[in-house]
Amino acid sequence: MQNNKRPESMARIATEEQAQAFIAGQIAEVKAQVGDKKVLLALSGGVDSSVVAALLIKAIGQNLVCVHVNHGLLRKGEPEQVVEVFRNRMKANLVYVDAADRFLDKLAGVSEPEQKRKIIGAEFIRVFEEEARKQQGIEFLAQGTIYPDILESGPVKAHHNVGGLPDDLQFELVEPLKFLFKDEVRVVGKALGLPDGMVYRQPFPGPGLGVRCLGAITRDRLECVRESDAILREEFAKNGLAGKVWQYFTVVPDFKSVGVKGGKRTFEYPVILRAVNTVDAMTATVEDVPFALLQHITDRITKEVKGVNRVLYDLTPKPCGTIEWE
Ligand code: XMP
Repeated sequence: MQNNKRPESMARIATEEQAQAFIAGQIAEVKAQVGDKKVLLALSGGVDSSVVAALLIKAIGQNLVCVHVNHGLLRKGEPEQVVEVFRNRMKANLVYVDAADRFLDKLAGVSEPEQKRKIIGAEFIRVFEEEARKQQGIEFLAQGTIYPDILESGPVKAHHNVGGLPDDLQFELVEPLKFLFKDEVRVVGKALGLPDGMVYRQPFPGPGLGVRCLGAITRDRLECVRESDAILREEFAKNGLAGKVWQYFTVVPDFKSVGVKGGKRTFEYPVILRAVNTVDAMTATVEDVPFALLQHITDRITKEVKGVNRVLYDLTPKPCGTIEWE
């Protein structure tokens, strides 16, 4: 029976020095747990799995097998960043799986939000399972479980909203961050040399852009979400809002409206901007984004993103709106 209670003697990790002491301790523990055996990790590029990867690369090097599944619903530049940071810089043993077509084919015509989530979660497990079966001699599965996951939902991180690997692939778990709170994970990530863009990332849902491309996902609207999201992030970063606003993104609904561009009538999609602040995601307030910046973002999105002729700003707090639209 694994102990899932944070030891009372464990001090908060707030400084580089404390993080280095934690890292040294975990390297020793992981080495003692896994010896010269192989460990598999689903590396999404999110804060938790990235910190686990960086820590385990230090502890066991090439015996860590990272699998990055690109489900086609990631933000612009994310898969490339995972490959750059982990394969090129940290020399990780990284398997990159481009499964975008596979996910989008499975999602074609599916409009019910929970059904979309289930398909994305189940397909993720299937792709990961296939990669796990290709690997020889895996005995351990690393997970980016953190302490709030244990407090909220029992011992296993509910990464993708559905079950887990089949019985014959039940590996022993390696969970070096399981007693850490999110702010501590970030301090450890910094100390491990991960880039700020990874360590201080805003939260991103497991189903990714799939829940921001409303209704049945189509490739053209998914591109509208991805490109408009990239512009919003770029403008927030330039204007000092990136580290200040808790979560910000764009949403593309599945209807069009009439507009006019270059003297010609258009019939194209709107983009909805959302920017919220919260402590625990249970309630949220809307960021008071300067009007001139909203105008500038609108201008850029309508000029640069193909198929978009309108931009709206969502002024709804939670409650009564949720943070995501689906
Ligand atoms: P809502 O929309 O419920 O979102 O106000 C609260 C927080 O949870 C995130 N979220 C998800 N995260 N899988 C995830 O991993 C999901 O299916 C999911 N749905 C919402 C959302 O981005 C926000 O941070």
